[in-house]
Amino acid sequence: MKKIEAIIRPAKVGDVCAALAKICSPGIMITEIEGHGRQCGIKQEFRGKTYKTELLSKAKLEIIVNDGDLDKTVKAIREAAFTGKVGDGKIFIYPVDNAIRISTDEKGEAAV
Ligand SMILES: Nc1ncnc2c1ncn2[C@@H]1O[C@H](COP(=O)(O)OP(=O)(O)OP(=O)(O)O)[C@@H](O)[C@H]1O
Ligand SMILES: [Mg+2]
Repeated sequence: MKKIEAIIRPAKVGDVCAALAKICSPGIMITEIEGHGRQCGIKQEFRGKTYKTELLSKAKLEIIVNDGDLDKTVKAIREAAFTGKVGDGKIFIYPVDNAIRISTDEKGEAAV
């Protein structure tokens, strides 16, 4: 099992959720966050003026998938979140030791 943590543009949450629904992704957690990447939160221009904000709004999606579903899930997220500009976000992948479905006590991949 793997945990996919995708930091994306808030405006792309709908598209990414629709793409995940198409591949029947098992579940999702969504959090509004603030952060910065390599540009250190520099927002280039708005109505002709340059503004600097240290933190920009992003959405954090967390999805736990079985190993066999990892590649297609990452592909679906990346394609739906893509604009080709800086600030599109990042996808981090972590190993998951175990999962427990509370209602049934199923463990591991069966619980996901
Ligand atoms: N190395 C990192 N560690 C933790 N969070 C990160 C890291 N890189 C990016 N993030 C998170 O992802 C969000 C979006 O990052 P962003 O897409 O701007 O990354 P980037 O490294 O600047 O790449 P790009 O040049 O494509 O913009 C950031 O606001 C931050 O929350
Ligand atoms: Mg950036």
